Amino acid sequence: MKQKISKIIKEVDSFSFNSLEEVEEFRLKYLGKSGVLNSLFSDFKNIDAKEKKDVGQAINNLKLTVKNKVSSFSTTKTMKKASAIDLSKPIKNNNLGSKHPLSIVESEIIRVFSSIGFNISEGPEIEDDWHNFTALNTPKEHPARDMQDTFFIQSDPDILLRSHTSSVQVRHMQKNKPPIRTISPGRVYRNEAISARAHCLFHQVEGLYIDTNVTFADLKQTLLFFAKELFGEKTKIRLRPSYFPFTEPSAEVDVSCNICSGKGCNVCKNTGYLEILGCGMVDPKVLENCGIDSKKYTGFAFGMGVERIAMLKYHVSDLRLFYENDIRFLNQFSPSI
Ligand code: DAH
Repeated sequence: MKQKISKIIKEVDSFSFNSLEEVEEFRLKYLGKSGVLNSLFSDFKNIDAKEKKDVGQAINNLKLTVKNKVSSFSTTKTMKKASAIDLSKPIKNNNLGSKHPLSIVESEIIRVFSSIGFNISEGPEIEDDWHNFTALNTPKEHPARDMQDTFFIQSDPDILLRSHTSSVQVRHMQKNKPPIRTISPGRVYRNEAISARAHCLFHQVEGLYIDTNVTFADLKQTLLFFAKELFGEKTKIRLRPSYFPFTEPSAEVDVSCNICSGKGCNVCKNTGYLEILGCGMVDPKVLENCGIDSKKYTGFAFGMGVERIAMLKYHVSDLRLFYENDIRFLNQFSPSI
């Protein structure tokens, strides 16, 4: 029996493994329930009492050799792994995401208006004709509809992709009683050819303020405050008469060029000013359409394109860059979120 055991020990010693599966197979073969060692132990009961001491020792020897063999494999494995670690290597730079420039600008606009008591209102991007146009004093066939080349749903011409977030103002007026102070940020759609200055989808923030005795002076001061917060304390604004069906009177607002400080450069086309938004006093008809007494209340409204403001703020000359998601462009804005 002693001879048999020393043969097995030699076998065990010369064994080499290539994988963990092989180690496990080996372990079961020798140490498993019906493995070699257990069968040796049961043979052990039947041997001569004289031999018991030596054979017992030999079996224990074998057991130890098998165990050492198994554990030696896991040690060499870890050693091999450990030597693959180069401690002098610089750490891996995990790139954190950052806010998109349009999100930064939108949050900034929201911050400024929230600080003077405006709340946020939101509405659907798929809108009906009434909320997008008719309620805003732009009935069917009104020529002002051409100002916003709209995507209509073919199977139902009453449904469209909202062309501005003024539709949210309508919904807000229907649901709330004055005083109203709200801004409506959101995505809007227009059937425009995509170019450096236009896209078929873009973002707007519109504002609405309705109360008793609201005047054009309130509108002007609110917008001046906004422009200074966004573009700096020295910023000036200029209002030019304009036309929107939902406001009367209406105006377009320019801010002094933040590149040349109003002296004139190629960005502001030597005018010293850059257009940023449209605004006006809410037409009484719009108030009435939305269930607000126009004899008691007046209000102002304004609307701006987030892309336009972001282009001016960051001096980006092509609007398409905001949608390409080129990491080299995006990396230039904001620290991580
Ligand atoms: N809705 C207009 C547009 O998308 C912008 C606008 C102009 C909004 C004047 C207003 C406003 O609320 O009073 O072109």
